[in-house]
Amino acid sequence: MYHKFIKPFPKDFLWGASTSAYQVEGAWNEDGKGPSVIDMAKHPEGTSDFKVASDHYHRYKEDIALFAEMGLKAYRFSIAWTRIYPNGTGEINQKGIDFYNNLINELLSHNIEPVVTMYHFDLPYALQQKGGWESRQTIDAFENYARTLFTCFGDRVKYWLTINEQNMMIMHGPAIGIIDPDKENPKKELYQQNHHMLLAQAKSINLCHEMCKNAKIGPAPNICSIYPASSKPEDVMAAYNFSAIRNWLYLDAVVYGCYNGTAWSYMEEKGCTPSIQEGDMKILESAKPDFIAFNYYTTATVAQSKGEDSDKNHTGDQQLAFGEAGVYRGASNQYLEKTQFGWEIDPTGLRNTLRELSDRYRLPLLVTENGLGAYDKLEEGETINDDYRIEFLKKHIEQARLAITDGVNLMGYCPWSAIDLVSTHQGISKRYGFIYVNRDEFDLKDLRRIKKKSFYWYKNVIKSNGDKL
Ligand code: BG6
Repeated sequence: MYHKFIKPFPKDFLWGASTSAYQVEGAWNEDGKGPSVIDMAKHPEGTSDFKVASDHYHRYKEDIALFAEMGLKAYRFSIAWTRIYPNGTGEINQKGIDFYNNLINELLSHNIEPVVTMYHFDLPYALQQKGGWESRQTIDAFENYARTLFTCFGDRVKYWLTINEQNMMIMHGPAIGIIDPDKENPKKELYQQNHHMLLAQAKSINLCHEMCKNAKIGPAPNICSIYPASSKPEDVMAAYNFSAIRNWLYLDAVVYGCYNGTAWSYMEEKGCTPSIQEGDMKILESAKPDFIAFNYYTTATVAQSKGEDSDKNHTGDQQLAFGEAGVYRGASNQYLEKTQFGWEIDPTGLRNTLRELSDRYRLPLLVTENGLGAYDKLEEGETINDDYRIEFLKKHIEQARLAITDGVNLMGYCPWSAIDLVSTHQGISKRYGFIYVNRDEFDLKDLRRIKKKSFYWYKNVIKSNGDKL
């Protein structure tokens, strides 16, 4: 739709930026922190582990001062469950509470709104050893952890996100590093884990509403529009299939408290419907999120599946296996360019996704990740000329503004990432930040912080409330 008048960003728009605990903090075993599944995972060869990451745990004050200089109104970060409960449950680790208290207070002293993800891929390893999300005990452990977070930080944190990218954990666990790639993972187990996460999420939403009257809470999946490869009706249906399995399964459950029909029929077909205990659906129905946060990097395009194994191929889309016999087949999109890492770039897709979400769920939306992973270069004079990143973000912000003009209630935009961090499966060389961290994959150098060109650009964007791109 063309508009004669493009609406401005709302006055209280949350211009932010994001990180996650294990990717930025380091100090993986300090001050009583227990190991998480991420700490214990095998790392792809040639990429750094997360032991030091960007050393944010020791440098958070310096980092937050830089975020404030950039003008951030919000900072989306995650709490490492294993800093609070080293074993997932049991004794609280006071030093972990102290760290996040200090972090939150430091943000607030700079007028930066904390947006807190409760769980970003890093399940306590002790829980994993007891069955992880396959066990219903993990639901109780999460509820207990959530209660502790709301008790300790609920007086100051207004925005909570439950689980980061639950859909990617279920669909791409081995690539993220949380599921052993050598292990067979029958779908049945995965969708049982998913059901348990949905319950844990619903319980934590209810708890937040009970305990923190002024807070808002929502899920944080990775959502994107799915395009059919052509106007052939069978390709369109493949797009519906994939969208139901990838997107709506997760959001229908949290917003409407039910399983998406197409996704359920897919699980029946594959013999992987979860066992649902009496009372489970009532719990799902009872929880009402206040908003939907979502991560957006790119869209996906699919064609009709020919029902053969060759449907599962690698198309360059996030370098993940993409396609399922009899359901959909991944296709590349001839209209889109790709990043250095092969991810398709689709700013208009962000507008499409925002509109789909808004029409389907009628809730406020918050973009909690969007960004460009690239090989940045530190040049003479302490400069990083990341014009490509500026171009990427500029185009996405333009589309976000058009979506607002279309009628979408968008609360904020928190690109990935506030500062360089270790990519989930491709090391530190794949950089996303506005602030450069001086280290290489294996040489930690001095870890000094250097403002990239995009830092100054984003500062201006925020100052002008999105007018000056
Ligand atoms: C999202 C995750 O999937 O994508 C982040 O929430 C991750 O943790 C980001 O870093 C980018 O992916 P990658 O693999 O490039 O780090």
